[in-house]
Amino acid sequence: MLAVHFARQAAEHARHALRIAWNVAILSDTARYYPDVAYRRIWNAIPDSMRSSSAVRSFGRFIHRRTCARQVRRPVDSTFHTFFLRNAPHFEVLRRRVLEWPRGSALRIAAIGCSSGAELYTTIWTVRRVRPDLQVSATGVDIDAPALEKARTGVFARHEHEFSRLPEEEFTRLCTPAPVALFNRDERSLRISDDILSVPSWVLYDALDPGLRHAIGQQDMVLANNILCHMYDPEAEQCLRNIAGLIAPGGYLFMYGVDLDVKTRVVKSLGLVPVRDTIEEVYRADWNALAKWPFLYWGREPFDGKRSDWETRYAAVYQKPV
Ligand SMILES: C[S@@+](CC[C@H](N)C(=O)[O-])C[C@H]1O[C@@H](n2cnc3c(N)ncnc32)[C@H](O)[C@@H]1O
Repeated sequence: MLAVHFARQAAEHARHALRIAWNVAILSDTARYYPDVAYRRIWNAIPDSMRSSSAVRSFGRFIHRRTCARQVRRPVDSTFHTFFLRNAPHFEVLRRRVLEWPRGSALRIAAIGCSSGAELYTTIWTVRRVRPDLQVSATGVDIDAPALEKARTGVFARHEHEFSRLPEEEFTRLCTPAPVALFNRDERSLRISDDILSVPSWVLYDALDPGLRHAIGQQDMVLANNILCHMYDPEAEQCLRNIAGLIAPGGYLFMYGVDLDVKTRVVKSLGLVPVRDTIEEVYRADWNALAKWPFLYWGREPFDGKRSDWETRYAAVYQKPV
């Protein structure tokens, strides 16, 4: 019985090997994927203890370059890929910048690629909690009309995508009236509270369009998270330059979810200065992108504090000099 079992297994392996050899010989479509399968197997077999070595990092970067060259970018799709309180440490950095803002002054905020508004509403809530004295104006920009329509209504439900990464205690914090609640709860839905709902305006606009600055004006804080990674590099570079043109002198750009080479090149050439506040913590909080590297184009490489350019490369907040 055992001999028969082994013979069957050997025959199955031989058939499999022959199929691979045939696919390679006739240059079939399937054969194109063999290197990817092999790289994935090798990558998954690497023990955790070796993953921070420079050889393994270089191998990962090699795979990621292949991934980026092959995968199709999807800048817009019908799902609202945004979350309330996405990347909490990033909002902490924003909160600390807001605390430094002059008393009673204006604060202009724009979220580019705002989707259904979760990020911009969280931002306004963060500001209102600590600085009720500021005159806040806010603009959400997106190219996707249904997303903006949802943002405008300000009505959400706990089971929706925007809450899917929010732990219960954080959700409770967003609903707590003091000092300010983000939501009014009723039995079936969650509505953005009136004080916050009345702040933003929502603008249907292409962030690649050079008229963006004319359309929404200069801003003190510009959010451009998780929009540029879905564009091909030349487009992402053009878009980033366009978005950076919105920032007033002394203002800030909040940005993660972008190809790190594109970002490093552009922020250096524009003279934007990385803000040295919990850079590593914010970077690591983007855990989903880190987990997807190197097999998804929007995956992010592991943090490497030994690089000479690590602050520029891994920062998620930049200031435009006065
Ligand atoms: C993944 S969502 C990010 C949402 C939010 N910024 C966040 O980080 O949670 C990307 C958004 O960018 C928008 N977008 C893509 N290309 C755009 C463009 N050229 N101009 C304006 N918005 C764009 C998409 O419609 C989508 O809503």
